[in-house]
Amino acid sequence: MTTNTRRNTCLVATTPGAPLGVNVVGYSYYLPDEVITNADLARTVDTSDEWILARTGIRSRHRAAKEQATSDLAIAAARPALERANITPAQLDTILIATATPDSPVPAVSCVVQAGLGAAGAAAMDVGAGCSGFLFALHTAACFVRAGAAHRVLVIGAETLTRVTDYGDRRSCILFGDGAGAAVVTSPEAGAECTIPRSSDGLELIYSALGTDGLMADLIKIPAGGSRNPASEATIRDRQHYLRLDGQAVFRQAVRRMAEAAGEALEATGLTPSDIDWILPHQANARIVVAVAEQTGIPPERAMLDMAETGNTSAASIPITLGRARESGQLAAGQLILMLAFGAGLTWACQIWRVRE
Ligand code: ACO
Repeated sequence: MTTNTRRNTCLVATTPGAPLGVNVVGYSYYLPDEVITNADLARTVDTSDEWILARTGIRSRHRAAKEQATSDLAIAAARPALERANITPAQLDTILIATATPDSPVPAVSCVVQAGLGAAGAAAMDVGAGCSGFLFALHTAACFVRAGAAHRVLVIGAETLTRVTDYGDRRSCILFGDGAGAAVVTSPEAGAECTIPRSSDGLELIYSALGTDGLMADLIKIPAGGSRNPASEATIRDRQHYLRLDGQAVFRQAVRRMAEAAGEALEATGLTPSDIDWILPHQANARIVVAVAEQTGIPPERAMLDMAETGNTSAASIPITLGRARESGQLAAGQLILMLAFGAGLTWACQIWRVRE
């Protein structure tokens, strides 16, 4: 199958809107049990439930238990996704995990997950693209599948952001939560062997594009703990191992980049805003989601808003929102879902998926 290579990061069929030969055959998510409410945060920093809800749309978020690491969340999301796809871990040939919060810098958390799942035949690697990571990993999986290099790819977005959140900084500690989401990606041939047991588990890829602007890397970062600024007593004292972000600049960039990416996707596929049933942006802030929908010409009631009980779970937010949309009965065969991501890097991504019959 030939594709229009308008950009090397863009996958779109030569017949606009036609499927790309990449399917999702099962997906699921996991949220840890503990819940932190806005009222809980207001006991430690100068904030209020009213302020957080009005400015972000978030009421509460989940936090991993002390003994849980990112790999535990990833495995808990992956097992039901594999069950729904009717695929065993042994059948997987590739595992891709998008995360900014791996269990440790070395080894890749995907290797820990491979062992935990018992996916002995799979090659595993991590994908680092901040909050856009899940769509970057799905895009990578799509390229592997289309190249014939992989047939059954487990893609996971998993984060324990509360481990890098500064609970002394009211501008950021209100935003972040922990969680994971997983999807099984196959070629149509490999997917045909799976009996998709429940409705809305099958998705087919119509369009995928990625973008990055490293000149704005300073807007969201963890200043210390890497090779530029290794861990020391001073970096720990200065709280430089926590996530820092310029909230207002990030807000503006998020709206601009996601709206532009959505416009490019519609133009490339020949679709119009009225063809899109759901817009599923990264769940950073309800005001960002509504602004992106409006700028794309899609009524805000068709925007999936799911951060109220989960907060910003970074690379996990899109698969968590997708899984919860299916649970609440929002998805139906034939619908088109426009997914949009934005995060540290800066990175952004856009994909269009059709819910299969
Ligand atoms: N409670 C009460 N007041 C607060 C709080 C709080 N939690 N936080 C900030 N304020 C105050 C500020 O001090 C400021 O007061 P001042 O005017 O007296 O100085 C006022 O509220 C307004 O502050 P802003 O920063 O302008 O608030 P804003 O409306 O921009 O909301 C927020 C801040 C929620 C962080 C918003 O900018 C945002 O959501 N940005 C995007 C975040 C995001 O998308 N992150 C994703 C990337 S992160 C990643 O990749 C892992």
